[in-house]
Amino acid sequence: MPVSIVVGLQWGDEGKGKMVDHLAGKAAAVARFSGGANAGHTVEVDGKRFALHMLPSGLVREGVTAIIGSACVLDPVTVLQEIQSLKENGISVEGRLKISPKVNLTHPGYKWLEKQGEADLADGRIGTTGRGIGPTYVRKFMRNAIRLEDVTDGNTFRALIDFHTEETVALLKLNSPETAKLQQDVDKFAKAARVVAGYTHDVSLLVSKLLGENKLVIAEGAQGSLLDPDHGSYPFVTCGVCVSGGACTSLGFGPTQVSEVTGILKAYTTRVGSGPFPTELNNDTGERMRQAGHEFGTTTGRPRRCGWLDCVLAEYTARINGCTSVTLTLLDVLSGFDRLKICTGYENRQFTTGRMMEQLVPVYETVPGWSEDISGETEWSNLPEAAKQYVIAVEKAVGVPVTCISTGPGRSDVIWR
Ligand code: IMP
Ligand code: MG
Repeated sequence: MPVSIVVGLQWGDEGKGKMVDHLAGKAAAVARFSGGANAGHTVEVDGKRFALHMLPSGLVREGVTAIIGSACVLDPVTVLQEIQSLKENGISVEGRLKISPKVNLTHPGYKWLEKQGEADLADGRIGTTGRGIGPTYVRKFMRNAIRLEDVTDGNTFRALIDFHTEETVALLKLNSPETAKLQQDVDKFAKAARVVAGYTHDVSLLVSKLLGENKLVIAEGAQGSLLDPDHGSYPFVTCGVCVSGGACTSLGFGPTQVSEVTGILKAYTTRVGSGPFPTELNNDTGERMRQAGHEFGTTTGRPRRCGWLDCVLAEYTARINGCTSVTLTLLDVLSGFDRLKICTGYENRQFTTGRMMEQLVPVYETVPGWSEDISGETEWSNLPEAAKQYVIAVEKAVGVPVTCISTGPGRSDVIWR
């Protein structure tokens, strides 16, 4: 059984965590392939809500192995906190958590540097999650980053940590109380990294072994395709690869091993942080979506920007990911709107995700809404006619079959078509 990849088709928060948890019922392993503690994956089981930032959502399923791939960046303090919080909820990760020794670590100084970098950008700021993601990837490509495997050589590890601490102190011209505060964070970081190093494993060999045993491995993307540094709304993007191709490089398997790519698409659009958003609604309708969908960031608590579904973007992201199917999530949030709009084109200029994306003016198709509460619905035939027509219109505009619809946060709030 080959690899099944799950990716977000918008700017993140499409409900990947919930869908991965749903799909993990059949999987031997769930593997995170990108990002770091910037992610916020929410899983709800039996009324309990788990918000994971570093650990793969698959851990919430008993017996599933959770893998963190080489292209992820790791905050060891967050990893330990999440292991502890799962434990308090009766979930043990022991023997199930496998982290690539090649992951790069987020030294605490990077968060300080990122904060200053954002302040320097003023109105041009990216609106990052403040988790030090950018500086970690920058140092990875400067080839002086700290990898988890460096922990095993005490001298190398210490020297690398000191180098990055001193760099932060110099760049930010920290005074001695500030330096002492940073050093405290660094000591905590070093201690946590030594513990987390106990979970390292050759993840490429592990995936290969599982596939050889005909077991299902789900590769879970973090963030959404429009935050991808190559294909997303540059420069308002994250630094980890958000598209399906990244699963291969991060986890160490070839494209020949992939059987399906599921794109997770929210029935409307949200975005946290700055940057272009052609279908954004800065009005009561947007506010209504925010309240109905509880659209506040899992990682930062920031209110998410809301707007209509953009099918031009979804068609684009479904293509760059090679999606074989689409799952439409949070459809229940759209109940009670008289009319719904779907963006099917732009009027003024050619499509771009670069700096000129700001200038795109959407063209909408208007479709009837429905008033019935559909939350928790599991049967296609029970959906109101207008809801069915909405799904069909989206499918037509995106050009990929919508095989699954999510109607609530719970594990089984799902319609299979
Ligand atoms: P960074 O990943 O913290 O560098 O933030 C870069 C951009 O990606 C900002 O707009 C963030 O709000 C956004 N972002 C990062 N992670 C997530 C996520 O998990 N969901 C939604 N947006 C995210
Ligand atoms: Mg999220």
